[in-house]
Amino acid sequence: MSIKLTLKDTGISAAELEARRKDAREALEKVRSGELDFTGWVHQPTEFDEEKISEIYEAAETIRQKADVFLVLGVGGSFMGAKAVIDLLGGDGKTTVLFAGYNFSARYINNLLDEMEGKDVCLCVISKSGTTTETLSAYGIFKAWMIEKYGAEETARRTFVVTENRSNYLFDEATEEDCTIFDLAVDIGGRYSVLTPVGLLPVAVAGIDIAALMDGARSLAGDGDFPEEWLDYAITRQILAERGKNIEVFEFFDPYAAYIGEWLKQLFGESEGKNGVGIFPVSLMFSRDLHSMGQFLQQGTPCFFETFITAEETLTDVQIPETAMAPFAGKTIEQIGECAEKGVYDAHVAAGTPVISIKADAFSPKTTGELLYFFEIQCAVSALLSGVNPFDQPGVEAYKKEMRAYINEL
Ligand code: PA5
Repeated sequence: MSIKLTLKDTGISAAELEARRKDAREALEKVRSGELDFTGWVHQPTEFDEEKISEIYEAAETIRQKADVFLVLGVGGSFMGAKAVIDLLGGDGKTTVLFAGYNFSARYINNLLDEMEGKDVCLCVISKSGTTTETLSAYGIFKAWMIEKYGAEETARRTFVVTENRSNYLFDEATEEDCTIFDLAVDIGGRYSVLTPVGLLPVAVAGIDIAALMDGARSLAGDGDFPEEWLDYAITRQILAERGKNIEVFEFFDPYAAYIGEWLKQLFGESEGKNGVGIFPVSLMFSRDLHSMGQFLQQGTPCFFETFITAEETLTDVQIPETAMAPFAGKTIEQIGECAEKGVYDAHVAAGTPVISIKADAFSPKTTGELLYFFEIQCAVSALLSGVNPFDQPGVEAYKKEMRAYINEL
């Protein structure tokens, strides 16, 4: 296991945790057993076999040969996981993966069109429902741009679609035009889809080792593989919420992990925030936010708990020259960062804030796969402990209905 979970500074006793472990185990069993709808993602790491991974690699290789830019259109779970993994792990830079279809900014779209001028492009359209306004309106624009550049047939050859294998606007059009279609299983919801073609195709195009990513997830996905003691994290979250700590602040020190924070916000926010309950997830990036939110964290309303998400080892380091000022000269940036991490942790614990630490060995493809799966399981278990269904999002429909009424009036 490459993840170390530390819960000693949450103010929760061993007896309090023990009292809820049976419920947590039962919740995990429920998630793993298949008795709940939309739990197809649970067995995805073991079921998405070598053949399926090869298919993704094959498509990714075609795209990498043809394109300088792979433009991924999707919103929510249809883009966030891929962006989080690519930002964190980097990729090899051969084909740049860009994202759109998650906002209605004309400036953003025009800037992307400028950026893609003179470059070879392949498109990726990801939508489970195949009906999402953000994604499909962007698709209309970028498809027309592609047809002007390549003609209709070559545009279809350069368009890769991920959707459910059943009739919807996107599936029907892509089928008719003979685009390459990857199937997103009907029983996997968007925010739990990062370890399916939704996340894997863009990540593979970026040049990241998706086999290792899946290996990491797989190490936790078999029968009895998920360490039961880790469920103490889900239990701890619920006990803290009952004590009025209704906000979880995910804290990172690696700026490339910012979108992992976005992915976590979506995963937990959409899974837990319903029926008038839920822990409001936020994310902060240190050291930057120590100089903005640090004051609040130290002395503000005590309505939150903190979850540090860090890595033991970093890929690279920079030495501060001997000519620098005395306390820093000769030390490395990572050494100083470690002091910041320890200092913040101690100061916030001393202020009485419950602090959780989740530390990976390193942010590698394998440990990232482990971390993604770790959080998916924790989120599902935690939501079930709070009495809500982790896999629906009835509240999202309200804004869509209102928005469509306005669109129809245009
Ligand atoms: O997690 C979810 O289900 C949502 O965030 C969806 O991913 C998001 O609404 C996009 O939906 P779709 O993939 O159907 O376009």
